[in-house]
Amino acid sequence: MKILGIETSCDETGVAVVKDGQKILSNVISTSVELHKKYGGVVPEIAAREQVKVIIPAIQEALNGANLNWENIDAIGVTIGPGLVGSLLVGTETAKSLGFVYKKPVIPVNHLVGHVYSNFLDAKEKIQFPALCLIVSGGHTDLVLMAGHEKFKWLGGTRDDAAGEAFDKVARVLGLGYPGGPEIERHAQNFKLKISNFKLPRPMIDTNDFDFSFSGLKTAVVNLVSNEKKPLSVPDVAASFQQAITDVLVTKTIKAAQKYKIKQILLGGGVAANLALRSKLSDYGKKIRVAVRFPPIELCIDNGAMVASTAFYNFKPESPEKIQAEPGLYF
Ligand code: KG4
Ligand code: ZN
Repeated sequence: MKILGIETSCDETGVAVVKDGQKILSNVISTSVELHKKYGGVVPEIAAREQVKVIIPAIQEALNGANLNWENIDAIGVTIGPGLVGSLLVGTETAKSLGFVYKKPVIPVNHLVGHVYSNFLDAKEKIQFPALCLIVSGGHTDLVLMAGHEKFKWLGGTRDDAAGEAFDKVARVLGLGYPGGPEIERHAQNFKLKISNFKLPRPMIDTNDFDFSFSGLKTAVVNLVSNEKKPLSVPDVAASFQQAITDVLVTKTIKAAQKYKIKQILLGGGVAANLALRSKLSDYGKKIRVAVRFPPIELCIDNGAMVASTAFYNFKPESPEKIQAEPGLYF
């Protein structure tokens, strides 16, 4: 079965064609990130206007890339939320119209579930259940138990800032560019000493729940930067912050993995591109003999392929009048 997946929850317009939930036939991503850089974050109105411009050409490019036309497409998967309402509307209304015109079933997809399914794309080994998913993006930080397809149980999440948001805000305080995650990672790689000069907090690392809180960690960096008389070493601060946040994410994930006796850990979301997080989680996973999987870096960012894969494994078409943008959708 060939599904065309459409993703427009934030500043990316992702369109892909995926066969049987796994094989990527084409994957087109158009981003408006350059237009947001001078504002230090995504401007919703600008993002949606760009998406209106690029979505039809992106769909055509995805069909051409897969060497297919509409006759060969079996269904359309579309992100309905969570995300920015204007952006989501572009994707959902386009999917509904195309579904109506070409008489294709349309499957609504939760963006967060989509990040989990990035792990199913071009996968060499089978995903084993029960799995534990750590979803870390610009807007979310969630630990979710996955007993099987369509069987998700939310265990906990952030009470304030999302992990990616914390990366972005710390980067801004350090005078680095947007998006902040890759910038922090790049600067942290330049820190060559074993021990940092700064001690940053690891909020909620020992609590018995599976919740997170990153605003205190962010504030600690803000205070550090504003109270210091002489210029700080950016690589040192970036490395200490990255160490602190990955310590918390990994410790809590491992604790949940042990409690629920899971078979695999699946990482997803933009922050899953972070190499320090990937290697720390893999190392700790080895210690408890649980395999840790993460998508290729290019599939960690928002894309249409993960939406098409989710639609395949959770094949529940909805009639067009029922498909709506749901900015606040959750598990
Ligand atoms: O999943 P995503 O593309 O969009 C949302 O659904 O939010 O995630 C974007 C977030 C941004 O906050 C960005 O700074 C972060 O992912 N990010 C990273 C890295 N690459 C992207 N954070 C840490 N390290 C990275 N290498
Ligand atoms: Zn995302």
